Amino acid sequence: MTEQELVQKAMDMRAVSYAPYSRFRVGAALESTDGRVFTGCNVENAAYGSTICAERTALVKAVSEGVTHFRRIAIAGDSSDYCWPCGACRQMLREFSAGLEVLAANRAGDYQRVSLETLLPHGFGPDTLQ
Ligand code: THU
Repeated sequence: MTEQELVQKAMDMRAVSYAPYSRFRVGAALESTDGRVFTGCNVENAAYGSTICAERTALVKAVSEGVTHFRRIAIAGDSSDYCWPCGACRQMLREFSAGLEVLAANRAGDYQRVSLETLLPHGFGPDTLQ
């Protein structure tokens, strides 16, 4: 799958975002090392703090299907800025794939590519607990 196709999947997922409070729709497409793609959107809640981001929706879908190794994630937001993952999502992604590539897209589908290690340097992970 090309980067553009993965970004497009993330953009398409904004259509099913449940974001009545912030009205900020986010979609994500997480690609595993065996080439499967798990999608997610943000799911908000009247108890605002219970909201789950698009990236973590995709991640928990994958892990609950037994998939725990990932190559890339595309994230698409609803503004002209690139949608970088929040701190909680960086940490959750780091648990499974420190070398993940992150494609952060804006409303128009333009995107930037960075490594998760750049976004979360010196991260705390399972290896730390050994
Ligand atoms: N959001 C995500 O889904 N992913 C991010 O990385 C940043 C924030 C969502 C959470 C909330 O529903 C909305 O965007 C506004 O913060």
